[in-house]
Amino acid sequence: MTSTENATAAAASDTAPAPGADAVVCRGLEYSFHRGRGKGAKAVDGVDLTVRTGEVFGLLGPNGAGKTTTIRAITTLLPVPSGMVRVFGHDTARRQMQVRRLLGYVPQQLSAESGLTGRENVALFARVFDVPHAERAARVAQALAAVDLTEAADRMCGTYSGGMVRRLELAQALVSAPRLLVLDEPTIGLDPIARTSVWECIEAVRRATGMTVLVTTHYMDEADQYCDRIGLMDRGKIRALGTPAELKARVREQAPEHPDPTLDDVFRHFAGRDLARGQASEGDFSDVRRTRRTASRVG
Ligand SMILES: Nc1ncnc2c1ncn2[C@@H]1O[C@H](COP(=O)(O)OP(=O)(O)O)[C@@H](O)[C@H]1O
Ligand SMILES: [Mg+2]
Repeated sequence: MTSTENATAAAASDTAPAPGADAVVCRGLEYSFHRGRGKGAKAVDGVDLTVRTGEVFGLLGPNGAGKTTTIRAITTLLPVPSGMVRVFGHDTARRQMQVRRLLGYVPQQLSAESGLTGRENVALFARVFDVPHAERAARVAQALAAVDLTEAADRMCGTYSGGMVRRLELAQALVSAPRLLVLDEPTIGLDPIARTSVWECIEAVRRATGMTVLVTTHYMDEADQYCDRIGLMDRGKIRALGTPAELKARVREQAPEHPDPTLDDVFRHFAGRDLARGQASEGDFSDVRRTRRTASRVG
């Protein structure tokens, strides 16, 4: 064993989820990008939410709602200036490393390297996340198989389609066997078939491992189909939270003019405005790069 592996083994006992703890608990989470002089609008303005262990939780809302900022606070990538965030019972402010070891994160921005093969990309993440050396090759192969990229694994990922790139990024996040998988707009810019295959991979891994999934999206239909519970977010606040069926039932009660509401109707009801629709497009690696750079700038 190398010293890194010894340290990892020693840390492992410290990174177990606290028994019975929810996967994520946020209380009064706030974040503003314009601190100091002047009062800027809060990107996240008092978010309370709980993601239960084992569920697929969707944070849903238009560009600028505060979804990315919220999940960056949960993944410890942003400090939490106000409020509290716990991941499997660990406070993200005090136990940053423990929290990081429990989660896998697929950012909205491109995280695969086009000049490496799929396998090399996943192997890189295995190293960064301290997957023990002796297990690495098998774990990399397993992660690639889970996202149906075994055959393409030794091709440069610059030759992959948009959907394959996204599935590769999923494999990168899965190789460390996270208890919580956090995905930011995993299907943005993909065509409907690629979107379905990304969701099917997430579902299959969840069934096999029991991991918890926290996902952001602005596609209402996906949230409706694949999420157990949903938080509707707009202008920094959670406007409504529940299962898709519960949210629709609330709209039926409160707005009888919608006897059979869609999640779009639900959003309009609770946020008081329409959800801007995203653009879907077929694409290759460079299209993905362009779309997601743009998306990360505007979103
Ligand atoms: N790095 C940044 N600097 C300044 N403002 C930002 C930055 N990132 C996001 N914002 C602003 O914070 C708000 C929430 O953004 P974000 O969390 O990215 O929303 P979403 O992911 O829902 O599209 C938006 O008004 C956005 O313009
Ligand atoms: Mg975003």
